[in-house]
Amino acid sequence: MDRNLALEAVRATEAAALSAARLMGRGDNNAADQAAVDAMRRCLNSMSFDGTVVIGEGERDEAPMLYIGEKVGTVGGPKIDIALDPLEGTNLTAKGEPNALSVMALAMEGQFLHAPDTYMQKLVVGPTAKGVIDIRQSPTWNLKEIAKKKQCLVEDLTVVVLERSRHEELVKEVRMAGARVRLIPDGDVAAALATCWKETGIDVLMGIGGAPEGVIAAAAVRCGGGDMQGVLCPRNDEEIARAKKMGVTDIKKILTLDDLARGEVMFAATGVTTGDFLKGVRFFGGGATTHSIVMRSKSGTIRYIEGIHHFDRKPVY
Ligand code: FBP
Repeated sequence: MDRNLALEAVRATEAAALSAARLMGRGDNNAADQAAVDAMRRCLNSMSFDGTVVIGEGERDEAPMLYIGEKVGTVGGPKIDIALDPLEGTNLTAKGEPNALSVMALAMEGQFLHAPDTYMQKLVVGPTAKGVIDIRQSPTWNLKEIAKKKQCLVEDLTVVVLERSRHEELVKEVRMAGARVRLIPDGDVAAALATCWKETGIDVLMGIGGAPEGVIAAAAVRCGGGDMQGVLCPRNDEEIARAKKMGVTDIKKILTLDDLARGEVMFAATGVTTGDFLKGVRFFGGGATTHSIVMRSKSGTIRYIEGIHHFDRKPVY
């Protein structure tokens, strides 16, 4: 894959973040999401590849833009699959809360799991605990193994969990095991990514979140050198049928990083609101600054990009 695509991708996440951030704290999730989708789509359609959205805003009949299967990019060029979420954390943005991101991952055709719009149980750790997790085992078992690998106590670990009623038992068990818990209102892609950076103080992500977000998180974790396992959690027969239609043959399969995001992967994210490792968009008279991360699994290169945008010379809206 042309390495410059990673830098093209960050242009798209910057544009989406700039557009969504204008609507931060306005209480309107849909408007913020739409602004991000419009901006990202415009950028994608100027990129030189034959792109297909494989993780997007939803299926064709329910999402007017950036739907699964939508073709993006200029005609010709390499066949690239795209997993994107123009605004990961719509509620976070609407309420002005931390950790909203615009994210995009790229891989060669056929390398991402085509995840249906259902849930996924996720277990994510950073590079220092790679190779020891097993989602079939209990949270307590995993925490002990993670602590052993990191040469610390379970009590030293911080586990991020989405604050949902479905996680009551999980949170109880993690607390019983002695680990520290950080409950988040939304945004498990940012939390997955945070496990790969020790400055964030986040060691593990556990619990059930969106399956499409699981694939995007896997791309990020793969580039960041961490580890992840997932299991699809369809809620009903319709979701199972949908998964099968998208090519998932074994619904109960333990999905490893390789099943979720194989081969060479590129990942870009731009902060919409300030979070654990990226600053949010800051506006000034006539422009704004953005803070992004761009990573490539092949080279392992991780770049942080501070963007200064002048709207009089390059309007984004
Ligand atoms: P949106 O940005 O699409 O609203 O998703 C936010 C999010 O919190 C994800 O990070 C997470 O995977 C998912 O929603 C959890 O879904 P639910 O809110 O249904 O528990």
